[in-house]
Amino acid sequence: MPSPTIESAWSALQALGRRPGAHAIRPLFADDPGRPARMTRRAGDVLLDLSRSAISPAVMGALLDLARATGVEAFRDRMFGGAAVNVTEGRGALHTALRAADGAIAEAAGSALQQARDTQARMRAFTEAVQGGAIRGATGARFSDVVNIGIGGSDLGPAMAARALWTPGCPMRAHYLANVDAHAWEALRPNLDPARTLVLVASKTFTTQETMTNAHLVRGWLAQALGAAPATTHLAALSTNLPAADAFGIPPERVFGFADTVGGRFSMWSAIGLSLALALGWPAFERLLAGARAMDEHFRAAPLADSLPVLLALAEVWHANALGYPARAVLPYDERLARFPAHLQQLEMESLGKAVGLDGGAVARATGPVVFGEPGTNAQHSFMQLIHQGPTPVPVDFILVANPDHPHADSHRKLLANGLAQAEALLVGKPLDAVQAEMRAAGAPDGQIAAIAPHRVFTGDRPSNVIIVPRLDAFTLGQLVALYEHKVACLGALWGINPFDQWGVELGKQLAGGTLAALEGRAVAVSPATAASVAEILRLQAIG
Ligand code: F6P
Repeated sequence: MPSPTIESAWSALQALGRRPGAHAIRPLFADDPGRPARMTRRAGDVLLDLSRSAISPAVMGALLDLARATGVEAFRDRMFGGAAVNVTEGRGALHTALRAADGAIAEAAGSALQQARDTQARMRAFTEAVQGGAIRGATGARFSDVVNIGIGGSDLGPAMAARALWTPGCPMRAHYLANVDAHAWEALRPNLDPARTLVLVASKTFTTQETMTNAHLVRGWLAQALGAAPATTHLAALSTNLPAADAFGIPPERVFGFADTVGGRFSMWSAIGLSLALALGWPAFERLLAGARAMDEHFRAAPLADSLPVLLALAEVWHANALGYPARAVLPYDERLARFPAHLQQLEMESLGKAVGLDGGAVARATGPVVFGEPGTNAQHSFMQLIHQGPTPVPVDFILVANPDHPHADSHRKLLANGLAQAEALLVGKPLDAVQAEMRAAGAPDGQIAAIAPHRVFTGDRPSNVIIVPRLDAFTLGQLVALYEHKVACLGALWGINPFDQWGVELGKQLAGGTLAALEGRAVAVSPATAASVAEILRLQAIG
């Protein structure tokens, strides 16, 4: 039974969304010259500017009423306190305990903190021993490369952060093997020397088909080069399933565990981040945790109207539920953040792609929008056409980094200029009369102007959030990732869904057993459509 307070907050918001011109952004700047400052908030190093959205003071009031009605702050406090906010799996969501300061966490979460501390001490000792040469490969050679074998949350976060932070001066090279498609392994293999390669099998469950298939492949490669027993000295496991890691041949001292209250997509702060510690160095990993901790502290303390995660979530609600925009793009204007959109795709869509509410009934409104993205400026030459002129606006998160870590100031100015220009173009657009005047000035004949000008119009009033950080380093990256993690938690509360389970990935995993049997030529019950596809693949494989 929906709560009348919540329903009335939704009704008020949706009524604002139905008002003529509700999507218009430019008039809000005309009405309020101080809008950029009024709609900007800071937390630590992160600035969030929401001014380029059609969020008027009345809309902001309605959004904050909704946040209060749906209990966003209570949900936040229960999450940090270790309550079983992951109701369908009967457990907490304690990724924040992995980066909490001593004494800054409720008693219920204390054991998670202690476990995190113990594992971190072992991760640190292992990292330093590998980097210092106390732990070496079977031939006595020092490890130069680490391969993380994992998928989803056991891959995307660390792979994204290594891409963002690794430089040639770092202690080790990190590689990420996720797909069960062995083309990935075949592409990686020639870059590795087995005598110098450390392999981390990263799997919370230690049962994931892709990861275990790749783990067997890579263990076989090590064994062939080094011998079966010595090869095991090149392995470590990052998992909550100690017996399965042991059965795979990884001894307990090489297994780095974490609690089942840490969800896959929230797990880069746990043992799943070991590849980062090895590749970047322990101090960098600690800075990453410290950055996330700074955002945690902001989220716990800031009032709703000043909280960056809350405001990002409320902007999403306005766009998805009141204006009906079904997608959002994330465009980091920094090549080092090339995998950040991929991380957010999992974080947001695996968390929020739900149509059943906490009460077990159908949710009454749209939930998780489609999230996609690419770094700028590449995105401009790819899908930005649709974002500028497609029929349905797609809100954009622009992520800008003020200071580069290279000496090419001109390149960096152009990069930032492009990011700001995209946000400007989405906001201000270009009306028909301006297009006509421009074409006339360029000497176009009247017939051509009449035929072509409509195609060159930009409606404007298309929303974007602008996020600016001073530089990209482990501390700022930790803040950015935690910002989006907490945005997801807020949206779970606002939409009344569980953001911490992922039942939607199970059916495909189950059915893969049957389709695998069918591809092995065994008679199994599959749908006629699958049977036809299997028949065609088997026919092509028979031809070779
Ligand atoms: O894609 C589903 C999922 O369960 C993710 O949530 C998880 O991060 C990923 O698979 C990998 O799971 P595991 O770490 O258990 O191998």
